[in-house]
Amino acid sequence: MIERLENPAAAAEWSAAQRAAGRTLGFVPTMGALHAGHLSLVRRALEENDAACVSVFVNPLQFDEAQDFDHYPRDFARDVELLDGVGCSMVFTGTLAQFFPDELDADGRLLPQHYVEPGAAAAGLEGACRSGHFEGVATIVDRLFDVVQPTHAYFGQKDYQQALVVTDLARRRGGPKVRVCPIAREPHGLARSSRNERLPADVRERAAVIHRALVAADQLWGTGERDADALASRLSAVLATEPGFELEYAELRDPRAWGPEAPHGSLERAVALVAGRFGPVRLIDNLVLGDAS
Ligand code: PAJ
Repeated sequence: MIERLENPAAAAEWSAAQRAAGRTLGFVPTMGALHAGHLSLVRRALEENDAACVSVFVNPLQFDEAQDFDHYPRDFARDVELLDGVGCSMVFTGTLAQFFPDELDADGRLLPQHYVEPGAAAAGLEGACRSGHFEGVATIVDRLFDVVQPTHAYFGQKDYQQALVVTDLARRRGGPKVRVCPIAREPHGLARSSRNERLPADVRERAAVIHRALVAADQLWGTGERDADALASRLSAVLATEPGFELEYAELRDPRAWGPEAPHGSLERAVALVAGRFGPVRLIDNLVLGDAS
């Protein structure tokens, strides 16, 4: 039976007891509304550690739109049930005031000096579209790492840039070891996301255009094309076939030379990244080119 803890102090105590017993601990931070993507991370954590724990916290620090925060799906009871079903050892939640007991102002806002610097990987793409997003992510993940002090922490490639940011954060802190796990997709290709719940069934199917665009760029890569602009044009051309998709970006990056601007010329390695909206719902996805072959 899963241990269900309602505040970070109890989670810290539980995690310390695991460490004291000499058990390795795998940790999966989430914002809840769990789906098969999250559960794949938990399974991996269970495979590689003696115990696995999950945090469920819709982190207000990382939302740049109040609307998105308000509409973010929340169902803690269902999350606990799903986690119990895969053998997760512990799940915990908390409030902003519990995570930051000494760092909030009188209105309950985090004081600016307590934000954690997200590093160079936060520049461009999501960092450019969502002001303050990665500061919010780095700040909560840093605090979650303090609470749990896990052996390994698991993140999804779905949030490619976030995985770079938290890997760099963990390196700067001296731990934990970060593992980045593959993207779980719906049958027609749409990357699983808690936000997909807000899409009507027909729009979910149309949203598979994002995956089709990524696959088209990958196919072009497979023919030997290495020019960044040619690959980006292929992405845009496929995305333009879906009039309901409001594109924010469709760009390439060299994963080992991350920079805020889209590269030009020939790429040795490439990840294609897409973001945009169907109505009010913002979706992101990516594909490392040449990875499948
Ligand atoms: P959330 O969106 O709930 O995602 C939690 C973890 O699950 C992240 O590492 C994310 O990349 C991973 N994930 C989401 N969808 C996935 C999919 N389809 N396949 C594989 N992995 C997937 O990301 C966050 O929460 C937050 O920013 C958080 C790190 C918890 C900090 O608040």
